[in-house]
Amino acid sequence: MVIVVCGRVQIKPELAGLKWPAACGVIAAMRNPIIVALDVPDAEAALKLAAEVAPSVGAFKIGKELFVSAGPDIVRRVRATGAAVFLDLKFHDIPNTVAKAVESAVKLDVQMLTIHTSGGPAMMRAAELAAQETAATLGQPAPLILGVTVLTSLESADLYAVGADSNIGRQVERLATLAASCGIRGLVCSPLELVGLRQILPGSMQFVTPGIRPGGGGGDDQKRTLTPKEAMEAGSTWLVIGRPIYAAPNPRAAAEKILESLR
Ligand code: C5P
Repeated sequence: MVIVVCGRVQIKPELAGLKWPAACGVIAAMRNPIIVALDVPDAEAALKLAAEVAPSVGAFKIGKELFVSAGPDIVRRVRATGAAVFLDLKFHDIPNTVAKAVESAVKLDVQMLTIHTSGGPAMMRAAELAAQETAATLGQPAPLILGVTVLTSLESADLYAVGADSNIGRQVERLATLAASCGIRGLVCSPLELVGLRQILPGSMQFVTPGIRPGGGGGDDQKRTLTPKEAMEAGSTWLVIGRPIYAAPNPRAAAEKILESLR
């Protein structure tokens, strides 16, 4: 058994021998760290928004609303534009079912996808293994599997209600280190959790952060936000940005302004 000690995490990959490059293929070619959430109701709206902002952003996130309404074809159509796709369906099921779902996602050629770390170690290892094996069979880079720790919509009382540690920070840390020990190479987290997680996780861990507000203020339903620059300085690898871009009067100009703020 290979044991790699990185910070406080002991990584015991049952996938020993597989190579996990930090970034490769389409992800490495992403022109910047901005991932625009295509949180729109149908394919036409999604493709219109994607075409408008594509020159200024790095990738597009397809979540449950758009995927359920437009189906896997929307992934193919966004990929056909040459853009990287982050499929945010947050898989959480028995290991075999999640592995099969990941296999289908890899066949759709997505570059990032999400799973719930609370699905447990066997589920996380099955997801990573399915991604690696399917990609190898197809001769393409494996997507980055991102673990979701504690949803930012949950409060301490919610964790207590479901029998988890009601200390949110401790629960996030526990799930994040578990994910790293299972070979998961990326996490979705609040930008305010970044600094603490960076200290305890391997330096190669990639972080995707939503809850980004260019003006710095809260607004909408995001309570704990950082600006794009603050989030990058805190250790974010990729920024997921929805409403500040798609709900702006001029989405392309909004994306350009955010990009400019990172320079
Ligand atoms: O519009 P806004 O920038 O708040 O959009 C953020 C995106 O990130 C949405 O698609 C939302 O579902 C997603 N997200 C989030 N918080 C998480 C995980 C994902 O806001 N913890």
